[in-house]
Amino acid sequence: MPAASTRNRQRSKEWYQRAQQSLIEGVNSPSRGAAVYAPGPIVLERGRGSHVWDLDGNEYVDFMMSFGALIHGHAHPKIVEVVSQTMAEGSHFAAATPAEAEAAERFRSMVPSAEMVRFTNSGSEATMLALRLARAHTGRTKFLKFEGHYHGWYDPYCLNGHSHPADQLGPKENPTRFPDSSGIPDSTFEDVVLAPWNDLQALEHILQRHGRELAAIISEPIMANMGCILPREGYLQKLCDLAHQYGALFILDEVVTGFRYAPGGCQQYYGFKPDLSTFGKALGAGFPIGAVAGPRAVLDRMRWGDGMVLHYGTFNGHRLTMRVIAANLDLLAANDGAAYKQIYAVGNAAIAGLRDIFRCRKIDAIVQGFGPMFQVYFTRRDAIHDYRDYCEFADTAKYSRFVHGLLDRGIYMTPSNGLHWIISTAHTMGDVDTLLQAADEVCAELT
Ligand SMILES: Cc1ncc(COP(=O)(O)O)c(C=O)c1O
Repeated sequence: MPAASTRNRQRSKEWYQRAQQSLIEGVNSPSRGAAVYAPGPIVLERGRGSHVWDLDGNEYVDFMMSFGALIHGHAHPKIVEVVSQTMAEGSHFAAATPAEAEAAERFRSMVPSAEMVRFTNSGSEATMLALRLARAHTGRTKFLKFEGHYHGWYDPYCLNGHSHPADQLGPKENPTRFPDSSGIPDSTFEDVVLAPWNDLQALEHILQRHGRELAAIISEPIMANMGCILPREGYLQKLCDLAHQYGALFILDEVVTGFRYAPGGCQQYYGFKPDLSTFGKALGAGFPIGAVAGPRAVLDRMRWGDGMVLHYGTFNGHRLTMRVIAANLDLLAANDGAAYKQIYAVGNAAIAGLRDIFRCRKIDAIVQGFGPMFQVYFTRRDAIHDYRDYCEFADTAKYSRFVHGLLDRGIYMTPSNGLHWIISTAHTMGDVDTLLQAADEVCAELT
């Protein structure tokens, strides 16, 4: 039986026309507009569990899950209950509440490196704060980021976050620098040292030149903004050691991976301890959130007084969100982490099934990642190891065609190869069957 067609999107088209009268590209982020979903976005109206519905009533299995924010899928009954209850009592006071300490206690019990935690309202705010803390703590200004890593849209992080033609990337020891945005002074980037990821030799070379000036090295543990690129064995521990060798802090950006790969994120999964780590997405189960966690000695710099690190925010410790976090983390920790076993089983089945389809259909494609998160690359390579591989060897146009074929068959996913497939606790083996049937049909026609 062919997968249900979701090609009739007349109302989405009409709504997109209307939205463009008041919103640039009809949306609030270019990753949701026509640049990615050409000719225009599918306008979604509601979601439940692992499924979403668009304005035309088409139903999809959602594998994007709000870029990973929805760790329990859409409208999880427990989250709905907590939200209704909390709203009825008052959503936010911008004052001390039990809710914020209760959320922090649960956070600390799950993340081993989190002696203390500070909540922000987004991942971008968390990485912004982590850098300010590292600069204050070390008394240094520069920091090192890696090509192809995304840490939010704060000015100094907006360097080489997008892909570029492989022949323009420059030498590994001195990569060409591509600002991701206009409106950022060139001088901002004078404080940024850029390095290729997963390559210790090039990094050590760069550190010999700049290591002693660095406040921090910041890295994603798994590259989640060039698809899904895994660290080489021992690489993350080595990054941490190298940062310390040069007197810098190691900031692990777990905004995507936190609470997803393990209760304690990738730092627990790979078994190492960063100085500071940043969180977001899955922590809020669909509510806007971010967090910085680390040792008291570093976070204590935010304590009021001379020379303090400033971090304000009307919505910090938002009561409703704090209550959601507590409920979310309780769900994740329940039954000895049964939620993680379920996510891994479903994710690994999807990955194995997709690999089988590509093999049987003789399509040059690989699936990278495991369990909670993965990405498909149309390539002849055995693996994509870094930004440079991605720029040179991933056929992103073919990936977009593949995903558009899936969108037409009831699978919701972004056509951007730079993102990744997400498995939530709401996904089932039945959803995997639906995906594989649709993927097989698309592959039969894929050119
Ligand atoms: C690794 C990483 N860090 C930080 C951010 C920024 O988080 P937010 O979008 O919540 O500001 C993102 C967002 O995708 C991310 O992928």
